[in-house]
Amino acid sequence: MRNFDPHLCSILIDEKAIQNRVRELGAEISAQYPDGVVLVGILTGALYFLVDLSRAISCPIEIDLIAISSYVGTSSSGTVTYKKDLSREIDDRHVLIVEDIVDTGRTISALLTLLKDRNPRSLGICTLLDKPDRRIVPVPIHHCGFTIPDQFVVGYGLDYNQAYRNLPYIAVLNEPK
Ligand code: IMP
Ligand code: MG
Repeated sequence: MRNFDPHLCSILIDEKAIQNRVRELGAEISAQYPDGVVLVGILTGALYFLVDLSRAISCPIEIDLIAISSYVGTSSSGTVTYKKDLSREIDDRHVLIVEDIVDTGRTISALLTLLKDRNPRSLGICTLLDKPDRRIVPVPIHHCGFTIPDQFVVGYGLDYNQAYRNLPYIAVLNEPK
């Protein structure tokens, strides 16, 4: 196990717990969208979650990706930047945004504003992790994997300056600088 990395202090959610919860979320989402849904993954953090979640969903899905970011290092910059747009129209489609973590809420809030303008039939949010203690902008979360305390976490897609994404578990980063 790579938890001996001196920058990681503990495993918050292990691989088995993640996979079990992802299966439950997949069942929830399949029941909610029997006629199908477009999963919009937010690059890059949501990739691992998106792939596993999509395999746990039994209704028809399409996958699209968008890149938007408000983070530098471990703090929200407050400025949201768009780096890659969707590759299809979403008007009259059920759309579910798939995110790794909702922290201040700025990223999701900006994305909701952007995508609502394109007239989807519905627009939902599914996040693997929710850090409600740090919320600045309230956002509606329809499907949530785990609510976590105010700690900076890495693994299963989440990074610290691009490192640690490929850990199979979620770990707490030790005193990030
Ligand atoms: P928000 O706009 O503050 O809600 O930030 C959401 C984005 O910040 C997420 O998509 C992550 O990329 C990043 N983020 C927030 N908290 C963490 C964390 O604990 N670890 C890694 N990335 C995080
Ligand atoms: Mg992200």
